[in-house]
Amino acid sequence: MKITNICCIGAGYVGGPTMAVIAQKCPHIKVTVVDLNEERIAKWNDKDVNNIPVYEPGLSEVVGEARGRNLFFSTQVDQAIDEAQMIFISVNTPTKMYGLGKGMAADLKYIELCARQIARVSKNDKIVVEKSTLPVRTAEAIKNILDNTGNGVQFQILSNPEFLAEGTAVEDLFMPDRVLIGGDENDQGRKAIQALVDVYSNWVPKERILTTNLWSSELSKLTANAFLAQRVSSINAISELCEKTGANVSEVANAIGTDSRIGNKFLKASVGFGGSCFQKDILNLVYICKSFGLNEVANYWEQVIIMNDHQKRRFSLKIVSSLYNTIADKKITFLGWAFKKDTNDTRESAAIYVADDLINEQANIAVFDPKVDHKQIMSDLNYLETRTSEENEKRVVSFSDPYEACKNSHAIAVLTEWDEFKQYDWQKIYDAMLKPAFVFDGRNILDAHKMREIGFVFQSIGT
Ligand code: UDX
Ligand code: ADP
Repeated sequence: MKITNICCIGAGYVGGPTMAVIAQKCPHIKVTVVDLNEERIAKWNDKDVNNIPVYEPGLSEVVGEARGRNLFFSTQVDQAIDEAQMIFISVNTPTKMYGLGKGMAADLKYIELCARQIARVSKNDKIVVEKSTLPVRTAEAIKNILDNTGNGVQFQILSNPEFLAEGTAVEDLFMPDRVLIGGDENDQGRKAIQALVDVYSNWVPKERILTTNLWSSELSKLTANAFLAQRVSSINAISELCEKTGANVSEVANAIGTDSRIGNKFLKASVGFGGSCFQKDILNLVYICKSFGLNEVANYWEQVIIMNDHQKRRFSLKIVSSLYNTIADKKITFLGWAFKKDTNDTRESAAIYVADDLINEQANIAVFDPKVDHKQIMSDLNYLETRTSEENEKRVVSFSDPYEACKNSHAIAVLTEWDEFKQYDWQKIYDAMLKPAFVFDGRNILDAHKMREIGFVFQSIGT
């Protein structure tokens, strides 16, 4: 089967960049990305390509090249499904906030709605590709819905997990370490797998395209994220010990990273990992293990989350205790709100939880992030439901100029590792702050020696 028409349901951080790259690399394939969110689609279609809703280095250029040629963004979901031979499901799968599995299992409501819609609309055979991160065996549920509610057409389900990291999405999509495609181990399944292999082969070397059965593919995604998150929690655990013993966590990370069996990536101690994937995927893994009665396995992985929560809390406590155990009505400036640099995504960002802790202590928070606006910051805090939105609004001010954000503040906390923070005129910032001027570097990006020379009381992670 030669694919010439693809539809993707969900125009978010995964669907948008992935489809843009497929369209750019495969000019012979028409790619339509659909979403129910009209505002989001309007932004993807904005005349000024710099206004697209996802900030990723290099993405505007890719969208600019393919949009209107063979890449389209639309809210006409039914029409796009009907016309496509291959449908990617890239909708969000947040952690369930109600009922059975609350706070742990993935909420598959959006996936199920998609499956039902595909079943209702399809008039000819389709390949359905799960792109969202899903608990193992979701493909089976999708297949069940499709087979039992469809119009008698044949559906092949593939799992094609996304491994792109935000901030480097375009690079990761251009040159993936691997593309993983899982499908049924029968003739029809193999044909569907081949059709998707052929799409990726337009730019990905064949040896990097791995094919597996459905369940292995689904579980590989959860496992990859669990391993990566575990590395961050492991080095963060060591960072606390470093602070007690006089060791320096960056030196330790550097020393162990040279062991080729360990490797040097994902060893950066921080205020804690965030993002839409790590916590959600581990919670999924824990929930699945518990549902099979594998309690030791579940507890083992849950500890990665417990350590991460501890690291965020520890950072807040350090700020409070350093500022003489009271931060009531003090101005504390956050540099960064996104969960990592080079993205405007804030999901599960450590900044949200640290701010929440500090607001509990009645601090006033001033935020500067190069890519995150005030509306998003308030929505993140309100989502926690710790206090009313009016109370949050009273405590949080956002700035579009970092120097204004830092002026007259008692302390600065670096929550995201944006490169520009390193280039600031720190003497100027120091001069405009209240003294003693504290800086808490939650990302270890500033030069401790220089900062102390200027006069800051400077604290970083793991030293
Ligand atoms: C992750 C996976 O890397 C990606 O393969 C998957 O498809 C989705 O989940 P993402 O969440 O976008 O990607 O970013 P990632 O670079 O993995 O960072 C996750 C979090 O860990 C960030 O908050 C980051 O700041 C933090 N982190 C990462 C550290 O604190 N230290 C590190 O050494 C690495
Ligand atoms: P991700 O990081 O997984 O891409 P996002 O939340 O950024 O997650 O994007 C998911 C998108 O999927 C959202 O824009 C949401 O509006 C869209 N979506 C969810 N359910 C449906 C649906 N049934 N039909 C179309 N779009 C949907």
